[in-house]
Amino acid sequence: MDTNDLIRGAPSEPDSGYDNETSSLYTSIGSSILDYEETYGRSYHAFKRGRYPLPNDAIEQDRMIYHHQSIHTLLRRWWLSPCQPTHILDVGTGTGLWAIEVADEISNAQVTGIDLSPIQPNATPPNLFFEVMDAEDELNGFEEAFDLIHTQFMNGISIRTWQHFYKQAITSLLPGGWVENHEIDFSCLCEDAEVPPENAFGRWIKLWNDGLEKLGMTGRCNAIIMEGQLREEGFINVTVESYRVPVGAWPKDDEYKKAGSLFLEGLLSDLSGLSLKAFLDGLHWSRADLELLLLEVRRDLQKCELHCYMPLYVTGI
Ligand SMILES: C[S@@+](CC[C@H](N)C(=O)[O-])C[C@H]1O[C@@H](n2cnc3c(N)ncnc32)[C@H](O)[C@@H]1O
Repeated sequence: MDTNDLIRGAPSEPDSGYDNETSSLYTSIGSSILDYEETYGRSYHAFKRGRYPLPNDAIEQDRMIYHHQSIHTLLRRWWLSPCQPTHILDVGTGTGLWAIEVADEISNAQVTGIDLSPIQPNATPPNLFFEVMDAEDELNGFEEAFDLIHTQFMNGISIRTWQHFYKQAITSLLPGGWVENHEIDFSCLCEDAEVPPENAFGRWIKLWNDGLEKLGMTGRCNAIIMEGQLREEGFINVTVESYRVPVGAWPKDDEYKKAGSLFLEGLLSDLSGLSLKAFLDGLHWSRADLELLLLEVRRDLQKCELHCYMPLYVTGI
């Protein structure tokens, strides 16, 4: 499947070898999962309504695709663990892009993607299944089912307690299985200077995290804590690898430039969707004040004067 087919929620035509029947999985849960919350002009998941503060509509799906492509440009692999998995779980699969790419690449693997929102395309490789599930519930039916469990962009918002997640992961893993988290610490760091206090992106990210905190979440990610939690839950061979995701096309290296450009594109494509619930529900800002701040943030991001980056941690490999 050409990943560009997924941009802007374009309905995908079944490709040859793709299974168009997997969408019927959702019917077993009932149409209520499609009864999306409509608020602030955006749609949000219906299953476990209110649980996750980012939209699930086409604009947000485009953002996810840009950010997935940015991370994949940096890592160049779908996972780093030294394993050849055949039963793979993608937790919080979003558009399903990671899962689709993996299922396409490894046709002898069974890939399962779970999410609160049934937004994945209907046409999928035949070895891929999507299910609507809350990753923080007991993962019933998944006992000793996987040899690789993957997350990407879930930290602090989707998975509020990694300790609990790792406890569940242990029961869902086959003996010798691996868990691998690709998680970003949503903060504004700078390669060669302090971020000046007047920089709107720096202000936005701090306020965004404050708003999320009021909702009981965080965009921050502490790999040292995650590493300790993995060990506490009995994982061995625990490793943390750190990367820098550039925000903008400022790096000289071509691959970093591409990753930074995709990351910035993703941010600019849906700053509003990222912000709405954190600022309006968490911080009780007015919509007008938020829009003013977002204008400044877009302007500062597009100027690309600072060499900003966000840390990306790969844990559990
Ligand atoms: C930031 S997106 C990341 C999507 C995907 N992993 C990627 O990298 O493109 C987070 C996804 O996790 C899903 N999600 C949030 N909380 C969840 C939960 N408790 N259980 C399952 N999925 C969840 C959201 O619906 C959303 O699709």
